[in-house]
Amino acid sequence: DADLKVFPLHKHPQYKQECCNLINDEWKRSISARMRSLDSSSDKLPTNLILVKDMKVIGHCKISSIPSIKNGCFVESVVIDKALRGQGYGKYLMEKTEEYCKSVLNLKNIYLSTKGQETFYTKLGYNLCQPISIYGSSIPNSSIATQSRSINNILLK
Ligand code: ACO
Repeated sequence: DADLKVFPLHKHPQYKQECCNLINDEWKRSISARMRSLDSSSDKLPTNLILVKDMKVIGHCKISSIPSIKNGCFVESVVIDKALRGQGYGKYLMEKTEEYCKSVLNLKNIYLSTKGQETFYTKLGYNLCQPISIYGSSIPNSSIATQSRSINNILLK
């Protein structure tokens, strides 16, 4: 598909409102809070990647740093336009995200947490791993509990 592209949102800020709508259509949150969160996308982490087809935003994911794991990152808020699911776009977005993490950010591991999309990620080669803390080491260990469904993918096989 020649007109299918994945790029960082901050390089194409004209897509911010559309991206906001796409995420909010799945996970309701105030528009202003969502827009503020998207404003933090940069060449350093966090980075919001968007999947654009025929100049429309049809997918999104957010890559964040993990303070305690220097060569890893946390991918979250992966979403594809409701009308276009089940057509391979999610897989395409994740593969491009992995490429970006590996070649642009020089990272080796992607961690993510899911409750409900295990099959999708397993098909992409992700494996269940021990819970990790996505917060700084100053946070008590109890915060790890929220990550009990973490799955990871070793990009450099
Ligand atoms: N159950 C079983 N298999 C699935 C599911 C599912 N829910 N979703 C996708 N798959 C399979 C597909 O059948 C396909 O298999 P194949 O390669 O053998 O043909 C493969 O996974 C790839 O599917 P895609 O068509 O690329 O997936 P899609 O474009 O629908 O995107 C996504 C998947 C992103 C999960 C989408 O359904 C979505 O936006 N869901 C709502 C939001 C959500 O739950 N996001 C994930 C949150 S977890 C996180 O962000 C880390």
